[in-house]
Amino acid sequence: QKHALNDMYEAHDLLRKFYHHLLVNTKQGQEALEYLLQRGFTMESIEKFQLGYSLDSWDYVHNFLKKRDFSIERMESAGLLVRRENGENYFDRFRNRIMFPIFDRQGKTIAFSGRALVKGDEPKYLNSPETPLFNKSKVVYNYHLARPFIRKKGAAVLFEGFADCISADRALVHNGIATMGTALTEQHIQLLKRSTDTIIICYDSDAPGIEAANKTADMIRDHGMHVKIALMPNGYDPDDYIKEFGEEKFQTDIIGAAHTYISFKMIYHKRGKNFANEGDKMDYIESVLRETAKIDSEVEREFYLRQIAAEFTLSLESLLNQQSKVGKHKK
Ligand code: GTP
Ligand code: MN
Ligand code: MN
Ligand code: MN
Ligand code: MN
Repeated sequence: QKHALNDMYEAHDLLRKFYHHLLVNTKQGQEALEYLLQRGFTMESIEKFQLGYSLDSWDYVHNFLKKRDFSIERMESAGLLVRRENGENYFDRFRNRIMFPIFDRQGKTIAFSGRALVKGDEPKYLNSPETPLFNKSKVVYNYHLARPFIRKKGAAVLFEGFADCISADRALVHNGIATMGTALTEQHIQLLKRSTDTIIICYDSDAPGIEAANKTADMIRDHGMHVKIALMPNGYDPDDYIKEFGEEKFQTDIIGAAHTYISFKMIYHKRGKNFANEGDKMDYIESVLRETAKIDSEVEREFYLRQIAAEFTLSLESLLNQQSKVGKHKK
């Protein structure tokens, strides 16, 4: 059993180096490299994150592994090869893709995610399947590099995508991590909790990203951690934002200006509402009162209620009254 795992680690390590070599040094990788550079990735990031390129071939990796005497069945269990439905044949899982190696906490390569180069090549990101090395509900992308910075800064910045994590690193946000295209899990939280008590969510500022941020913020808070939510102009993701507005603005205006939980909730509940409409206005106020009712500190609660009172020229007294009807904090 140990032998099998060692083989899987070794194959991942060899392929990481091979894919990286193809991207950086070969004619076949040139288009992929140009694509990355044009997107704003630097050679430094490409080295640091060991990005690579998988050939447009059905059997190159298969032969590569066979030549090196790896058991082909074992390489299939490791997710590197796929068995054809009708027969004994195997083919390469990753073909003509930008390769993002996934590292474990010790920095060992345990999986890959491959991004399509060709528009319309589905899926956009192809991940390794669940294997003896890789469980995506446990793995946190970039945790091996980010951990010391998470400790030092007292917070982890949580991104939706690998590209965001890598661009943020270029913008000197070294405490960034990402999940494998999945929602944050209980296991991710338990892992992060060992290094910090604060998570700054920096998901894409599009409708699905904001919905996901809202759910994730509640979940983090329910686990007794502090949460902040960084927002960008509508529709941007961190990688787009950094490319367009620069690294410094990302640091100061986006991460540095991340919203508190309640301030985010106010923005969240405001979306799509028209305050000229009395019903919308009342819905909004009730939603915010329901959120502020969750705050344990009376001072903090009052701080937000005063904000609402000022915004809608209401008395603090009437808001407190209303809150006692919707929330757990009685007057
Ligand atoms: P770019 O288009 O390269 O900038 O990627 P992105 O990170 O902005 O992608 P997006 O916001 O669409 O998705 C966020 C994350 O979800 C990605 O980093 C992936 O981890 C994951 N994801 C996106 N598309 C797919 C897919 O087709 N399959 C899987 N399994 N995951 C995906
Ligand atoms: Mn290199
Ligand atoms: Mn997205
Ligand atoms: Mn995105
Ligand atoms: Mn993107």
